[in-house]
Amino acid sequence: MELQLKCRPNGKFNIMCLGDLHENVDTDSPLGKARAEDMAKLINTALDRLRPDLVVLMGDTCTDCTNNGPEVFRDVVTRVTQPMVARGIPFAFIMGNHEHDDHHEEMIVKTYESIPGCLIFNDDPSITGCLNYYLIVQRSDAESPAFNLWFLDSNNLCEDEAISVYDWVHEDQIAWYERKAAELKALNGGKPLPAVLFQHIPVPEEYNAMRPMKPWELYQSVKGHAHWSTCRYVAKEGMMRGYLGEGPCAPCRNSGQFESWKRTGDIRAAIFGHDHLNDFTCTVDGITMGQCKTAGFRCYTDGCQSSVRMVTLDENRPDKVETEIYRFKHDFGLKSQSLGPIQRRINDKQSFVLNVSVRAAAALAAVTFGAAAAAQIKKRISEK
Ligand SMILES: [Fe+2]
Ligand SMILES: [Fe+2]
Repeated sequence: MELQLKCRPNGKFNIMCLGDLHENVDTDSPLGKARAEDMAKLINTALDRLRPDLVVLMGDTCTDCTNNGPEVFRDVVTRVTQPMVARGIPFAFIMGNHEHDDHHEEMIVKTYESIPGCLIFNDDPSITGCLNYYLIVQRSDAESPAFNLWFLDSNNLCEDEAISVYDWVHEDQIAWYERKAAELKALNGGKPLPAVLFQHIPVPEEYNAMRPMKPWELYQSVKGHAHWSTCRYVAKEGMMRGYLGEGPCAPCRNSGQFESWKRTGDIRAAIFGHDHLNDFTCTVDGITMGQCKTAGFRCYTDGCQSSVRMVTLDENRPDKVETEIYRFKHDFGLKSQSLGPIQRRINDKQSFVLNVSVRAAAALAAVTFGAAAAAQIKKRISEK
C-alpha cells in the first residue's frame, strides 16, 4: 500500500465527509438540474472554505443508476467527484447499502478507481463486503505513521427481517480489522496506531447515548428504529452534541464490532452516514461517534440543513479528534434552487415542532388566562 497522505507542517490533517448524496441520472428535469446544482454548490463552497486534505464519500453516493450501464454510471460519478478532481484533492469512498442494491459492485469499484485522486482498494477480497481497506496518514516529517483511516463495508439488508432490517459488519470483517490493526501496532513500536473509522451504517451502540423520553420530552424525541421502535428516545444528558433527527438505523443484531474496537484500542472516532437527518456526535466508552447527514438534495432531508462534516486530526494531540458540521444555509449562507419556500425556511424538524408547540400552548394560555400567562409559557418552553 502506498503511503501518500501526510499531516500538514502544523501537524494537522483535515478530512471532509460527504454523507448520502444519492445523486442519480436526473439532470434533465428542472428539479433534477436544480438539485444537482445545489449539491455542487455545497461541495464546491465547502472545499474552497475548509480546504480538506482528503474527502470521504460516505456511501449511498450515486444510486438508482447502476442499471443504466457503465457509461451512464460513470457520468454520475464524474459529476459528483469533479469538485475534488478539479482541485487535486484525493478522495476515499465506502459502500452504502444502496451501492449493493443491483449487484454491480465490480462496475462501481472500476468506475471509482478510474477517477484521478481516488484512493480505494479492496484489501482482502475473500472477506464479506467490498472495499474493506485502510489508508495511513504519515506524520508531517513523513518519517513515520501518525494515523490510520479504516474504511469498512457495512453491507446491505439482512436476509431475515425478523433478525434485523439492515445488515452489519460481519465477524470475518472484524477479524480482518483486528489482524491488520495488530500489524499496524507492530509497525508503530507496539502501540495501537490512533485511527478513525468510516462506514455507512452506524453501530447499535449509538443507542447507549440515548434514553427513553419522559412524557414532556415528546417534542424533542425520536422514534427508535426497528427493534427499538417501541420507544421514543432523547439524548442522555451530556452525552450528545448536535442534532438527533431520527432513531439511528443501526442493525438490530450486534456483531461485536464496537467491543472489538474497545479491545483493539486504536479507534478514536467512528464516522457514519445512512441516517439522512442525524448530525450528532456522541462519546460512548471513550469512542466518539459522529453522524453525517446528507450533503445532497435528492433524499429526505430537513430544509437547507444539508451539510458536510469535518474531522480534524492532529499529530501533536493524537488522542483528540475534533469534528464539526458545516451547513448549506447556516454556515455557508447558500440559497437553494431546488427547495420550495417553506422548506427553505424550516431549520430542522425539532425546531419546527418546538415552534408549533410553543405557539399553540401560548395561544391556548392567552384564551384561557390572558396575555401575561401566554408570555410566561412562551418563555418557559423556549428555555427548555
Ligand atoms: Fe441513504
Ligand atoms: Fe443507507
